[in-house]
Amino acid sequence: MKEKTSFLKNEICENSPNKNIIPVTTTIDSNNQLSIGGCNLEELVNKYDSPLYVLDEITLRKSCKAYKQALEKYYPGESLPIYASKANSSIFMSNLIASEGFGLDAVSEGELLTALKGGVPNDKIVFHGNNKSDKEIEFAINNNIKVIVDNEYDLKRLEEISDSQNKYIDIMIRFTPGIECHTHEYIRTGSFDSKFGFGFETLHKVFEAVSKTKHLKLIGLHAHIGSQIFELDPHNDLGEIMVTVILEAKKYGHNIQELNVGGGLGIKYTQEDDPPSIDEWIKTVSSSVANACKKNKLNLPILMCEPGRSIVSTAGVTIYKIGSFKTIPGIRTYLSVDGGMSDNPRPITYQSNYSACLVNNPLNSNPNNKFTVAGKHCESGDVLFKEIELGNCKTGDLICVFGTGAYNNSMSSNYNRIPKPASVLVCNGEAEIIQRRETPNDLLKYDVLPDRFIKQS
Ligand code: LLP
Repeated sequence: MKEKTSFLKNEICENSPNKNIIPVTTTIDSNNQLSIGGCNLEELVNKYDSPLYVLDEITLRKSCKAYKQALEKYYPGESLPIYASKANSSIFMSNLIASEGFGLDAVSEGELLTALKGGVPNDKIVFHGNNKSDKEIEFAINNNIKVIVDNEYDLKRLEEISDSQNKYIDIMIRFTPGIECHTHEYIRTGSFDSKFGFGFETLHKVFEAVSKTKHLKLIGLHAHIGSQIFELDPHNDLGEIMVTVILEAKKYGHNIQELNVGGGLGIKYTQEDDPPSIDEWIKTVSSSVANACKKNKLNLPILMCEPGRSIVSTAGVTIYKIGSFKTIPGIRTYLSVDGGMSDNPRPITYQSNYSACLVNNPLNSNPNNKFTVAGKHCESGDVLFKEIELGNCKTGDLICVFGTGAYNNSMSSNYNRIPKPASVLVCNGEAEIIQRRETPNDLLKYDVLPDRFIKQS
């Protein structure tokens, strides 16, 4: 991937951060150093060490507000944006999105607990998953959290658990809408061949089965067609399909009051990416649902959507320190940083591209300085950038990688027993820790040496 630092000069789109590569508060100060949220990134590393995840509060809140305002503007009925916490789950994130009036989507007991601890009201949390454990289902039920039923097995166990506890549960049904979309190239979780959701053709049986249960109340429908999507048409199609499913459910006596169209709006990682704005995406989804309801003389359901990446990705950056250089004449120069696939598994997993620059003298890019940016893990594929043009740099300099707020921290690992980085929140010149840096000792916490081995040594 080729990337120069010209992206730093792009005009900032204030009301749809997903259209920017950099957080909206990014500046280059008089010393030619990069700052975000009024905080000088080099000073942050001096204080909190590297690698460091940095989240910009203003960018986060602007993204949330864009969803809220667009829903109010375009959807004539009630609506609720729900944050897909798999993108970046923490007590802080739960707290922030709750303060913006969002609900939250969780897929495990860990994400549910984090949401509740962060202050998300239980009636605004939805519980997803294609293979929920009994313990997780019981946790959700005991906390009166709405469950999104994914398959027959899920339905059967929910029925058994609700009957055994003699407790009524509100459920939503997730289905695969079969949006293959001929020309559209994106990750197609909404296609028929997906591990998630009931098959479209089985829905009549599912509706019948639910109507025979004692304690399950079907109040909503859910579908999610994929992630990092730049096209609007698939979401236009989705709204219409979902309304036809409301009509189908009606035949079995179910009154669908909530329609959850999932997430999926893409963000700009590199200069080549051109995602629609949050406003355009919500306009498409809202009008498709509202028009289809009007056509079929249906009351408007509560419209829900589940953005993850487009809320948190652009708000986040990762700062690394440069260590070793290795030049292979005529081939390439490797520049190694102090993190890699453990804090950002997306390049090795999806061949994802990012944009980056030096923290000092960020605009300086020298066409002769082309590097392959490698991580520090014992794996040749641990490469963050295959080819990037940077300014003159040396060991000890800092690199800022943009767009890392989503699916970095949440997908991070301890491969090679590398502790996870700290996360700091920046706003108006203040930096606050929202996740402590792990230490090597933290990693030993769960190791157990059986007694007989201790005696031996
Ligand atoms: N709702 C459901 C049911 C989902 O499965 C997802 C994402 C979302 C909402 C949020 O989608 P978003 O707005 O973030 O596109 N690890 C991959 C992304 C996996 C997305 C999984 N589901 C990555 O790093 O690109």
